Amino acid sequence: MPNRCVCNAAVPDDEFARDVASGLARAPKRLPSKYFYDAEGSRLFERICEQPEYYLTRVELALMQTHVADIAAQLGPGVRLVEYGSGAGIKTRLLLGQLKAPAGYVPVEISALALQASVAAIAAELPQLPVRPVCADFTRAHVLPDLPVISARTVIYFPGSTLGNFDSDAALRLLRQMRAEMGAAGAAVIGIDLEKDRATLEAAYNDAAGVTAAFTLNLLTRINRELDGNFDCAGFAHRAHYNAIAARIETAIVSRRDQAVCVAGRRYHFAAGEAMAVEISSKYRLDGFERLAARAGLVVSRHWADAARSFAIVLLQPVRA
Ligand code: TRP
Repeated sequence: MPNRCVCNAAVPDDEFARDVASGLARAPKRLPSKYFYDAEGSRLFERICEQPEYYLTRVELALMQTHVADIAAQLGPGVRLVEYGSGAGIKTRLLLGQLKAPAGYVPVEISALALQASVAAIAAELPQLPVRPVCADFTRAHVLPDLPVISARTVIYFPGSTLGNFDSDAALRLLRQMRAEMGAAGAAVIGIDLEKDRATLEAAYNDAAGVTAAFTLNLLTRINRELDGNFDCAGFAHRAHYNAIAARIETAIVSRRDQAVCVAGRRYHFAAGEAMAVEISSKYRLDGFERLAARAGLVVSRHWADAARSFAIVLLQPVRA
């Protein structure tokens, strides 16, 4: 059977325009980070993952390489693996390759292009595996497609510390949604970045080659192209700062001067030094994460961390009634 794409049409065409208009009208201004990932943004993100300062991808991949057999053994046979966000990277293929008789793979991804690429990569490596892609925003209700065989359990895979890109309320909502989606027999495997010293964290989000800066500023280029904007990208700067109280990197785009910008026929004023919030990357302690998970009815049944305790992969299961 061909790999059909189930399109939940969760992203109306004008949602980008509405989100940008309402974000720019707020004080302080903000832009939603889910729009980073157009074709250029996705390409730049891949390069971020290769930067020497960006340890997250390397450490998580090393953890997967070391522990994938153990992780797969914990999950057992007949897994339906549901991945949130563009996946089918090397980590996903490692996991799928180790699962015993997997029922299938369901990537849930907002970008049709990224979804196609991930399906192609999986099909090339695991041609027997049923793949049922879902083109949708994973934070919204989506219908999980049926697979040719009945699965023993649903496992949600959410690597990359992407959970950290949601504030604590939204992260809790997402964990509750996962809990509902996995059912009583399910599980989730989540990558979380751990709290550490400021210098290491700030370097990871301010790489010397300027790739992260290009990545965040690409959002302005996308707005110019798709929403008829006139941002002068040279008039703005990328800034990533560690807020130790909130335990998160806060990424902003800062206006280098007093200026006005038009987007979709509306005019917005920026003061010199004015910051637009674009992203948060929360850092966790295992005990804090356990408390968050507990509020979603989930328990951390195993975790795998590197010796420096820089990053962790956690296995979540429903709390037994
Ligand atoms: N989940 C990644 C993280 O928070 C995403 C990311 C990496 C990111 N670098 C970024 C998001 C820079 C915005 C800006 O680490």
